Amino acid sequence: METTTKTIFSFFLLSSLLLHLYFSQGVAQEVAKSESEALGEAEKRETLEIIIGGGGSPAPYPVPSPETPCPPPPPKPLSRLERARRVLLNFKTLILDPTCYTQNWNENTDTCDFRGVRCASYPNSEERAVAGLDLNGARVTGQNGCPLPVSSLLGVNQIPELTFFHVNSNSFAGSVPTDITKFPFFFELDLSNNKIKGQFPIDAITSKVLVFLDLRFNQLTGPIPPQLFLKDLDVIFINNNQFTQCLPQNFGYTPARYLTFANNNLTGPIPKSVGYAPNLTEVLFLGNKFDGCLPVEIGNLKRAVVFDVSKNLLTGPIPHSFGCLKSIQYLNLAQNKFYGCVPDNVCQISSLRNNGNLSLADNYFNDVGPSCWSLIKSKVLDVSKNCIRGLPNQRSPYECSQFYKRKTTCPNPSSFYYVPCRGNPSSETTGSTSAPVTYKTLKPHRLRL
Ligand SMILES: *[C@@H]1O[C@H](CO)[C@@H](O)[C@H](O)[C@H]1NC(C)=O
Ligand SMILES: *[C@@H]1O[C@H](CO)[C@@H](O)[C@H](O)[C@H]1NC(C)=O
Ligand SMILES: *[C@@H]1O[C@H](CO)[C@@H](O)[C@H](O)[C@H]1NC(C)=O
Repeated sequence: METTTKTIFSFFLLSSLLLHLYFSQGVAQEVAKSESEALGEAEKRETLEIIIGGGGSPAPYPVPSPETPCPPPPPKPLSRLERARRVLLNFKTLILDPTCYTQNWNENTDTCDFRGVRCASYPNSEERAVAGLDLNGARVTGQNGCPLPVSSLLGVNQIPELTFFHVNSNSFAGSVPTDITKFPFFFELDLSNNKIKGQFPIDAITSKVLVFLDLRFNQLTGPIPPQLFLKDLDVIFINNNQFTQCLPQNFGYTPARYLTFANNNLTGPIPKSVGYAPNLTEVLFLGNKFDGCLPVEIGNLKRAVVFDVSKNLLTGPIPHSFGCLKSIQYLNLAQNKFYGCVPDNVCQISSLRNNGNLSLADNYFNDVGPSCWSLIKSKVLDVSKNCIRGLPNQRSPYECSQFYKRKTTCPNPSSFYYVPCRGNPSSETTGSTSAPVTYKTLKPHRLRL
């Protein structure tokens, strides 16, 4: 059942992309291609089968009996396209549009030629529908300083055919409408860099098909709910909000590959379960107030390419299990209170040695394994502002001894020497050398992935 739905909506998306390519010749280079597609989503959903038929024909109108006078003919229901057109034209009356993004949204233009509008054939029909809306970078605001509610476009009676909604860098305000849970093919929501307020919109993202969630650069507050990690999301970008409290223990249940929690006010430890997130490829925890020690379980993340916990309050040594991060290219622990010796097996990871980046600056490390010296020399490893004797740019001996007198020890210290991949330490080279995705989320503008 779920597979069928996915198959259908992927068809819808892919056709919308293809149609977009067709239409875009004269229209919209500025319309970014679907983020998910760029992330390789499309590869994963290449099956272009579509189930045709299945009882879509409307019930015939009842025949009036001859005695009764004929009632007026029932109004012809609006086509999907016409209903969407009215929503869009009405939206245009609600906004200030400083970049004239919606200039061609008018009587003389076909709805499917409206800038930012993507049309496609609705699944199981020949009917054209608005499959996607892309107002990225349009900077529209409400009229006369009025707030521009997201619900002005995402209400249930508006454009339920949408598969994606990308409105990076506008002034959408209010909360995320739960109506989108009723959109059967809705799988990409990008509300980044707007003025969305309130708690995490967990009730709005219960849609089974949603895979891409981008809420970064808004004004969301409160805790991150554990239900988030039970969703079938592939991408979770929620950096640069004001989320607080601890990360839920069930973090590792997420099937997501790309996660950005950077630059919030999250506290407490990094949950152990992170190490069991099955697909985790890139995760940004930087710029929060996480404390405690690194869980040794993180060493299980065989697919992790980016792991960044810089600018937090973390402490303890680097677990030797980190030597098993065989795909890691960007390992950033800078600006914390880590200490001890940098394990030699971490400095042997070939994906780090070949063009990787191991940033340990601004901590309290006092030694490095023998393999680390060549990495320092080749500038892959940055250990400036630590406590390593014989190296330039280190903290003063006084500062270091003060720190070591008061350092907090981690629970279960022997676990820090456990190496789960012994026998085959990081000898595998990965094919992946593509640039990381998630660091681009740290700027507010739209993603060009
Ligand atoms: C988050 O932390 C910053 C910096 O410490 C602080 O100014 C801000 O008030 C905090 N926000 C919340 C919602 O706790
Ligand atoms: C994510 O992990 C799950 C469970 O291991 C797997 O079924 C799914 O195919 C994975 N998805 C991706 C994109 O690798
Ligand atoms: C490594 O990453 C750090 C932190 O993001 C960055 O400042 C530095 O320029 C990078 N170094 C290299 C050689 O790319």
